[in-house]
Amino acid sequence: MAKAIEQYSFKEIEKHNDSKSTWIVINNDVYDVTQFLKEHPGGEEVLLEQAGKEATETFEDVGHSSDAREMMEKFKIGTLVAAERKADLPKKSDADWKEPSDASSSDSSLKSWILPVALGLIATAVYRLYFMS
Ligand code: HEM
Repeated sequence: MAKAIEQYSFKEIEKHNDSKSTWIVINNDVYDVTQFLKEHPGGEEVLLEQAGKEATETFEDVGHSSDAREMMEKFKIGTLVAAERKADLPKKSDADWKEPSDASSSDSSLKSWILPVALGLIATAVYRLYFMS
């Protein structure tokens, strides 16, 4: 049976902004880090500064390890209400894919040779290994 996910709005979240009750929002999820304040390797001040607020950017800026990301699951108490959620992942804007047309066409025709040649080399290597064994 799926566990019901609590949804919170900032109206509620922002009340939990001190060391008695410390909630922070990271990637649209709500974390209660009250018990973690003293244990946080980055110190309790930084968490208290973000208490009751959206802290995704500061959290990501620190470059937290995957251990830290696993650890935070324990403190998750819910998610933001749909109306207050931000897009989960930064979307690749179209601009990233459109390159200046002239430069990219010669560039990509050069690249289009690399794959067939690489496949040819791999096939040759596999063929030779097969007959040598
Ligand atoms: C539930 C949320 C959080 C968890 C579980 C967590 C966990 C950790 C852990 C395990 C570390 C040690 C280094 C690492 O493994 O990456 C760390 C370091 C740190 N964290 Fe957090 N953290 C959380 C939220 C935050 C937030 C919101 C900030 C915002 C400012 C922050 C700022 C820092 C800083 C400044 C360090 C020290 C980095 C260093 O000394 O190199 N953390 N955190």
